[in-house]
Amino acid sequence: MKYLFPWYIRLPLIFFASAVILEYAIDTEELPAFIEKPEVLGLLAIILLVLISFEACYAAINSVLWHTLTEEEREAKLAIKESNWWSGFLKKATNATPIDEEEEIFLNHNYDGIKELDNALPPWWVWGFYATILFAVIYLARYHMFGGETQEQEFETEMAQAKIDIEEYKKTAKNLVDYKTATILTEASDIASGKEIFMQNCAVCHKPDGGGNIGPNLTDNYWILGGGINNIFKSISEGGRPGKGMEPWSKNGLKSYDIQQVASYITTLSGTNPPEAKKAEGELWKDDTVKEEVIKQEADSLVIDTLQVNK
Ligand code: HEC
Repeated sequence: MKYLFPWYIRLPLIFFASAVILEYAIDTEELPAFIEKPEVLGLLAIILLVLISFEACYAAINSVLWHTLTEEEREAKLAIKESNWWSGFLKKATNATPIDEEEEIFLNHNYDGIKELDNALPPWWVWGFYATILFAVIYLARYHMFGGETQEQEFETEMAQAKIDIEEYKKTAKNLVDYKTATILTEASDIASGKEIFMQNCAVCHKPDGGGNIGPNLTDNYWILGGGINNIFKSISEGGRPGKGMEPWSKNGLKSYDIQQVASYITTLSGTNPPEAKKAEGELWKDDTVKEEVIKQEADSLVIDTLQVNK
């Protein structure tokens, strides 16, 4: 029997190969198959056991055989074992002349006792050289004859893909907006979506025209919880004062971007003067003071809370 690999290489090799094959054969999404499906672990364990028992049988048979051999046969076997594939490979790859035969390849040069050997080029080096030629031919054919992607084209495809990815990200990033970063959306489609959300969820209390019913008038310049896109966003997302009936809509199924849309829609209602509107509540909000007031509002939030408790 020829010894290709010793058992401590053979066994793990076959085991990992079967693990890799299983990984490819079994379709799992993110995690490796053996983590996502515990039964795969069981299967691997069985494979390992079978491999070990094979090796054990093989070793047992060998040891029995060994005892039946004559002294000569044992020596012959040992000789085969010593010339294993690795040392054979090394010999082939270097093609070095054994030291005791060097006499034969001395060149006729002798410089102060330094002699030169006429060794053949080491085959490993020659193989590498041929490999570069092969590589060059394949490269030439692929990129200069059959139109493989050049570096520039590759760069362009990647940039195009990156643009698509950024657009994708922006779609999800839209929902990262909060009351501090909210700005008024002006796209007609956003305002239309905002109106739809308003009609579905808010019109019952604020009237379809925003004139106010249970909830305050949203069309005038007076605001209880603060005007301007940032405060309106906050009122919708976090709700009004407790017990007033205005719920925190971020917990009521509206995403941040929905809130931004409906808040933007509400800003378009400003000054529409709908008939039978509720009388103004809260304080007059001047547009040019929005930014300052928002900051003040944040600083004052504790005060507002105390007000609520006192009510
Ligand atoms: C159940 C009735 C009700 C519903 C539904 C309702 N609101 Fe209100 N809303 C109120 C009340 C009441 C207030 C006043 C809260 C307060 O005084 O603290 C209010 C306040 C507000 C304010 C602040 C007004 C101000 O003067 O500061 C905004 C903006 C607002 N609502 C928008 C909405 C939007 C947008 C929706 C739909 C997503 C909605 N509301 C749904 C009852 C409602």
